[in-house]
Amino acid sequence: MLRIALIIGSTRTPRAGSHVATWVHSILKTRSSDSLTIEPLSIADFNLPVYDEPVMPAMVPAMKQFTHEHSKKWSAAIASFQGYIFVIPEYNYGLAGGTKNAVDYLKNEWPGKPVAIISYGVHGGSKANEQLAESLGIVMQMKVVPTKVLLPFAAGSDLMSAVNEGRIGDASLKEWEENGKKDEILKAVAEIAEVLKLEAKVEDVLERKE
Ligand SMILES: Cc1cc2nc3c(=O)[nH]c(=O)nc-3n(C[C@H](O)[C@H](O)[C@H](O)COP(=O)(O)O)c2cc1C
Repeated sequence: MLRIALIIGSTRTPRAGSHVATWVHSILKTRSSDSLTIEPLSIADFNLPVYDEPVMPAMVPAMKQFTHEHSKKWSAAIASFQGYIFVIPEYNYGLAGGTKNAVDYLKNEWPGKPVAIISYGVHGGSKANEQLAESLGIVMQMKVVPTKVLLPFAAGSDLMSAVNEGRIGDASLKEWEENGKKDEILKAVAEIAEVLKLEAKVEDVLERKE
């Protein structure tokens, strides 16, 4: 069974990210099967303080161990997935601090795994999307899939309810559907599945050789 985490990147309450992730999940549920599941995972639920371990994440677990329960839980949760879809907000023209902090907690849980990034915000969160892609791709050595999904809030009352109440309005959902965002999300997940399928084939070949 392959497991993909739908990571909700926002850490404030109320958060628009939960609503965006619920919408994304409703699209992706159709892609869940006996061999692949997509499971929501909220960074906020881990109550991670600003990074407070005495060791660098790169040293764990080969040379040192995490000392705090919150780090151990976050590490175990992330390690248990084979792929990831991040749903992230943009704060002040960049990646939100809470999202970056959670990513920075870990190093050896990420490499080699496929990841898609979906961002939302007033303009769709393109800067946050790019920054996370660089961090995960270049530093964490993850396979960031080519399809990047940007979800801009519809102008007017929708924008205000998202920003102030963390609620995504019908106008935004309608615009996203009309602008092909559902297809983009499905394409991004298909790209993750493709990476996992290729890896399974390589493993198969290697096993046969042994
Ligand atoms: C501190 C802060 C900074 C923000 N800066 C941006 C920004 O640079 N670009 C953007 O599109 N939206 C920005 N916003 C609006 C957020 O996209 C919006 O509040 C959204 O609801 C945040 O997601 P969340 O509720 O899941 O945290 C900002 C919001 C906050 C709280």
